Amino acid sequence: MKRILTSVAIFIGIAGLNVAFADDEKMHHGNHQHDMSMMDTRTSLGLSAEMKQHQLSNMREHMGAIRSIVGLISESKFEEASGIAHTKLGLTPEMEGMCGMFDNEKFKTLGLAFHKSGDDLGKALLTKDVNSSLRALNKTMEYCVTCHATYRQ
Ligand code: HEC
Repeated sequence: MKRILTSVAIFIGIAGLNVAFADDEKMHHGNHQHDMSMMDTRTSLGLSAEMKQHQLSNMREHMGAIRSIVGLISESKFEEASGIAHTKLGLTPEMEGMCGMFDNEKFKTLGLAFHKSGDDLGKALLTKDVNSSLRALNKTMEYCVTCHATYRQ
């Protein structure tokens, strides 16, 4: 009886150790993945502190513009939405100047194409057709997504 109990105890011990090792391995694996996701592989634009703040403030305005446009579409206020698209997202002289300040040519090209899509969005909104407007908005937002996935400050 004592021998059986000892065997059972040893078995439980070994099983316990296995579980402990499995946990340990999982943790290491988890940490490894954590390390990978901490790596920012996007291209840095090498911006100055001042440019960084200027860019972020611009970006927050872009975000606000998208939100306003979505809200205005839902209220069928297409003309107002079109005005915001042109003035806040379109290729205004101010935005052209801002894009021109970057050293990275590809980033510049992407930025200019993005602002042109803002003007296209402005035009699409004037059709007062929800589907065409959303298609154009989707195109503009594709630039937000692509650029953010590729570049960092
Ligand atoms: C041509 C490139 C480009 C385009 C297009 C672009 N962004 Fe950005 N955006 C950036 C970069 C670069 C940053 C800084 C990201 C970083 O360093 O992690 C940024 C940051 C932001 C931030 C963070 C702001 C903060 O205060 O932290 C927001 C919000 C944002 N963008 C919104 C938008 C929206 C919305 C659009 C589209 C309507 C957009 N951006 C289009 C390049 C772009």
